[in-house]
Amino acid sequence: MTEPKKLFIKTYGCQMNVYDSERMAEALGGQGYVETQSPDDADMILLNTCHIREKAAEKVYSELGRYKGLKAAKPDLKIGVAGCVAQAEGEEIMRRQPLVDLVVGPQSYHRLPEMEAKAGQGVKALDTDFPEEDKFEKLKSRPKAKRGPSAFLTVQEGCDKFCAFCVVPYTRGAEVSRPAGRILDEARDLVERGVREITLLGQNVNAYHGAGEGGDWGLARLIWALSEIDGLARIRFTTSHPNDMDDALIEAHGTCDKLMPYLHLPVQSGSDRILKRMNRSHTRDDYFRLIDRMRDARPDLHLSGDFIVGFPEETDQDFEDTLDLIRRVEYGSAFSFKYSTRPGTPAAERAQLPEDVKDERLQRLQGLLTEQQRRLQDAMVGKTVGVLFEKTGRLPGQMVGKSDYLHAVHVAAEGVVPGELRQVKIVESGPNSLKGELI
Ligand code: 5AD
Ligand code: SF4
Repeated sequence: MTEPKKLFIKTYGCQMNVYDSERMAEALGGQGYVETQSPDDADMILLNTCHIREKAAEKVYSELGRYKGLKAAKPDLKIGVAGCVAQAEGEEIMRRQPLVDLVVGPQSYHRLPEMEAKAGQGVKALDTDFPEEDKFEKLKSRPKAKRGPSAFLTVQEGCDKFCAFCVVPYTRGAEVSRPAGRILDEARDLVERGVREITLLGQNVNAYHGAGEGGDWGLARLIWALSEIDGLARIRFTTSHPNDMDDALIEAHGTCDKLMPYLHLPVQSGSDRILKRMNRSHTRDDYFRLIDRMRDARPDLHLSGDFIVGFPEETDQDFEDTLDLIRRVEYGSAFSFKYSTRPGTPAAERAQLPEDVKDERLQRLQGLLTEQQRRLQDAMVGKTVGVLFEKTGRLPGQMVGKSDYLHAVHVAAEGVVPGELRQVKIVESGPNSLKGELI
């Protein structure tokens, strides 16, 4: 029997990349590859990259530089770059780093096996097409390996919104939704393999409009259909645009038991002037009204968001407006970034703010968000909440799981196994997690 070849995948960026990496590993499984946790013993290294900010893109080149020695010691080692940097800078990568054998964009990775075979014959391969064929269908025949309790499932890709700062519409292309039937099949398959919680993924997941029985399905319809799968306990989705929260989806948060009370709803800025310059096509008041409707539907909803500070022309007052919006909304968690110039996007052409102004604003904004996050987390003490256990903790008999609101919860839970969903009383709040007791 021949030794299996070893594949090392390093994943950067968003959850969709995590999902894509799993699918790429499965595709290459057909070529006799098994995954390894270290690049040192790999026969193939694949970097699944992110292009969203400058730093993320630069990391790829410094990581590739580190593989020089490995390639020199093992000339058969294949090195590939996948994901959004591959899409945006395909040829440039080949030019800047000659040790790369193949470059594959996020829409073409079902062609990886062919590309790997080519690379084996010493032919470099580049594929950054947006092909007609459905990559998800091509990758269907997957091994029925057991899975952990929580899984991602991509239902939609791409974005038509063209926010002035963002590369996604260029790297991931136009919005495309997968047909509902295929998503339901994949979800049933995941549940058979042990999954109890599915997070539906899309760059604009709530813009989902897939072909389903009887016509076009929106995200709410898809969630309701998924909720009928026995054994599936929890449904989440990320990431959403405020303009795509339709009535049915807002209502589902109040009526669908399996839909978790947590919503990631990026607003980016609290200033109408900046929102306009960002091409967000909504105002701060639109956002407030939407949050009110969401909380009417689901009063215990925890909100999360994304914020950009230091967008071109952002004044002190614009920034204060963002802080004010955060104070009014109260976030359970949030991600915040300094504006990063992305070549090819409209905002890259505008006058940029000094780095020290961005630094200072980011620090203040993160201070406020951390304070809020901590306050909401502390308020969990004394409450009873569902916890889906995922793995053993550091202490003997301890298990770690995720609350309905996505907090990490540590519980002394002798005999409880990963995948069990139990009611837990929260007794303590630490810096990054909660402690609870089974009830
Ligand atoms: N600079 C900084 N942050 C950005 N994001 C997207 N593009 C940029 C950029 N050019 C952030 C947004 C988005 C998240 C995924 O990344 O907040 O919601
Ligand atoms: Fe980027 Fe805006 Fe589309 Fe989100 S909605 S992916 S920030 S262009």
